[in-house]
Amino acid sequence: MWIAPPLPSAEDDVLRGVLGGDRLYEQPAHQAQVAALLAFLAAPGPVHLEVGVDYGGRLLALAAATPETRFIGLEIKKPRVAELSAIAPPNCRFFAADARVLLDRVIPAGRLDRVDVLFPTPTFEAAHLLWTPRFARTLRQALREDGLLHSETDIEGLHHHIGHLLAGWPPAPPPPPAPVPSRRQRGCAREGWPIYTLDRRRPAAALAPA
Ligand SMILES: C[S@@+](CC[C@H](N)C(=O)[O-])C[C@H]1O[C@@H](n2cnc3c(N)ncnc32)[C@H](O)[C@@H]1O
Repeated sequence: MWIAPPLPSAEDDVLRGVLGGDRLYEQPAHQAQVAALLAFLAAPGPVHLEVGVDYGGRLLALAAATPETRFIGLEIKKPRVAELSAIAPPNCRFFAADARVLLDRVIPAGRLDRVDVLFPTPTFEAAHLLWTPRFARTLRQALREDGLLHSETDIEGLHHHIGHLLAGWPPAPPPPPAPVPSRRQRGCAREGWPIYTLDRRRPAAALAPA
């Protein structure tokens, strides 16, 4: 059974220092990556982002099926991102990044139409936990008003934890299934494990101060 580790206090629920933290993408080594991402986002049209793509097959299939939408896949495993980048179609980019940092520091506010978070790692370590109050605020910043958040997990406790963090986000209809399931979706189907899904709209109300 998964239960959330003690969440950081509001004071401590901040991005960490320079490397891997709040100034990471200001470093010269990341300038080309940031410029490429901002150029990709500069053109008009819908943008969907998926957090923690791992093998990335689902996002590649979505991109192939929806050429008018641009897709961004984030994954912390660099070799995986290199493999995916080599075969990505023109409307799809993969970035080796911690989603908590990149979404907060690089994605222009209100630019994303949809964010999918599928099967986030059910860690017991607060420092590695994706879903904290700060991440919910980060999503709220990155999504356009009425933008969609789609969450899936096979961990019931994590599902309730995410629902609690998104209290106040109005329910939304689920998106149609992707043409190809993610690896974890396939595993759940094979093993008969339940998948807990949650679909919410980014609320219209003004942002609370972070
Ligand atoms: C349990 S796997 C699920 C993979 C995939 N979404 C699926 O449905 O098969 C979680 C993935 O999220 C990645 N990940 C974990 N924390 C992350 C973060 N902060 N930012 C981006 N990716 C992350 C992990 O490396 C891993 O590939």
